[in-house]
Amino acid sequence: MAKYDNSFTDELRQRLSLVDVISRRIQLTKKGQNYWGCCPFHNEKTPSFSVNEEKGFYHCFGCGEHGDIISFTMKSENIDFKEAIKELADMAGIKMPEYKVKSKAQIEAEENYFQITEKATQIYQDLLYQDIGKHALEYIKNRGFSDDMIKKYRIGYAPKNNIISARFNNIKIDKLTATGLVRIGDYGPYDFFRDKLMFPIFNAHGQIVAFSGRSLDGSEPKYINTTDTELFHKRQTIFGFNFARDAIHKNNRSIIVEGQIDAIQMQMHGFPETVAPLGTALTEDHIAILCKSNRNIVFCFDGDNAGQKAAIRACTLVLPFLRENSEVKFAFVTGGKDPDEILKNQGESAMRKIIDNATPLIDFLWESVNKNYLVNTPGGRTSAEKYLKDCISKIQDKIFQNEINEEYNSRKFNQWHKWKKQEYKPDVKLPDIDVMTINLIKSIVQTYPEITEKYIDFLTSLNISFDDNVQKTSLDLENAEKFIVSFKLQRYTQKLESEKQQLLKNALNGEKYDSELLEDLNKKIEESNRKLEMLLDMNNK
Ligand code: GTP
Ligand code: MN
Repeated sequence: MAKYDNSFTDELRQRLSLVDVISRRIQLTKKGQNYWGCCPFHNEKTPSFSVNEEKGFYHCFGCGEHGDIISFTMKSENIDFKEAIKELADMAGIKMPEYKVKSKAQIEAEENYFQITEKATQIYQDLLYQDIGKHALEYIKNRGFSDDMIKKYRIGYAPKNNIISARFNNIKIDKLTATGLVRIGDYGPYDFFRDKLMFPIFNAHGQIVAFSGRSLDGSEPKYINTTDTELFHKRQTIFGFNFARDAIHKNNRSIIVEGQIDAIQMQMHGFPETVAPLGTALTEDHIAILCKSNRNIVFCFDGDNAGQKAAIRACTLVLPFLRENSEVKFAFVTGGKDPDEILKNQGESAMRKIIDNATPLIDFLWESVNKNYLVNTPGGRTSAEKYLKDCISKIQDKIFQNEINEEYNSRKFNQWHKWKKQEYKPDVKLPDIDVMTINLIKSIVQTYPEITEKYIDFLTSLNISFDDNVQKTSLDLENAEKFIVSFKLQRYTQKLESEKQQLLKNALNGEKYDSELLEDLNKKIEESNRKLEMLLDMNNK
């Protein structure tokens, strides 16, 4: 049988409904807990073939056939395991992992490899607690690592001298160089890691595939990693995954941080589902590995520019993996700190706040587009739209893709085109003012200079001539002012009314109409009417 990672077949079982798959062949009816149909593997007229969706298996009480989604596909289509997996993967819309049949020589080489890395790890672990590793032990303890943590993550010390080349002198040199621990120079073999704090890098099964060494004397580079080997591909390896795997499953999400010390401290302080890429930028492979468990990821980056850039990159990488129920979020640690420092200085709850407040992918993408393009210019909006369109097209599920598209369309309309609303100035014509009113206003202007002063803007906007002499008004000051105010309110209401009429007329002509604006107008009209009523009420008393 082909060797597939169990997690892949598990994912297929999890992602696909057995009832759906079987229903493509035979008709099933739900009775009680199970679904029933006529067995496709033997001839029968009354259904004795039962399917248990929850447990993921079928059983025929007639002929005894029994199996799961994979065996059903193999048997019913008469194809082999690999072909069945391929078909189911297509159905689920997920990529097949590569599989190779391993040769005997290859298996042997792997055994040698892991023996060497395992033994080397033990040597490094021992040296950390000896005199020669004293400064390294002091360093890691200062970084808040207890003995238990050092043991769990199998942290060690690689001394300045060529310890690996010396201790493994009975082993063929090409086996040593294959692990990346030893290199051949002009003067013979030498150790790759020297005077480094050593972090073993485990594969998903907990075998040691490589190392990451941190410099202890402040020299650059700060970290060196094993260069890629037959068994170690940096782009496909996530630090801490072997420890985080169960928690990723249990907590139904993973957290990705930037550094390996961050990942360890997170795992130890309430976030066991945390992993980190290995000093490289995140790759599609990293995300694919995590997505095998679930598609819920919190990316945790530095709040600086580099972190923003990395987040955008992660966003584009994760888009093809999104499903409608995926929860992908972006958290930023600000103030030049990383999760390690937050945990150390502010504790788990501060870190949890940062994780809990992470921005959902849809919002993060929208925010970064608005930040990175001049969306208040037509050209900027065009570039931004192109970028968004490109992003959306990466989403595999067409219906979900459509949903997201709609969401952004509505944001574009409401946020980018808001400027159009501000420009909207209806050309309203107010009814003419009757002669009696004009005369009253004129006489008030003649009588009360203080009222004229107070309402000068309004009065001049009326476009009536105050030049000619008119009689003084018999109204007292208070009532004169009340009249002007109520008239002002009436004109204001008239103006709103005619704006509303125009809006409705435009809508009838099929132009885009803004329901928010209409609502706003209605509110203002109502309020203005209410004020007028109050004013008149006072008059009557
Ligand atoms: P510490 O100072 O040990 O806490 O490291 P850090 O994780 O805070 O470092 P930083 O944020 O600078 O880098 C994040 C991750 O990038 C590290 O954990 C390393 O995996 C990787 N990294 C940092 N510096 C180097 C380097 O010089 N070379 C390589 N290959 N990787 C590096
Ligand atoms: Mn750090």
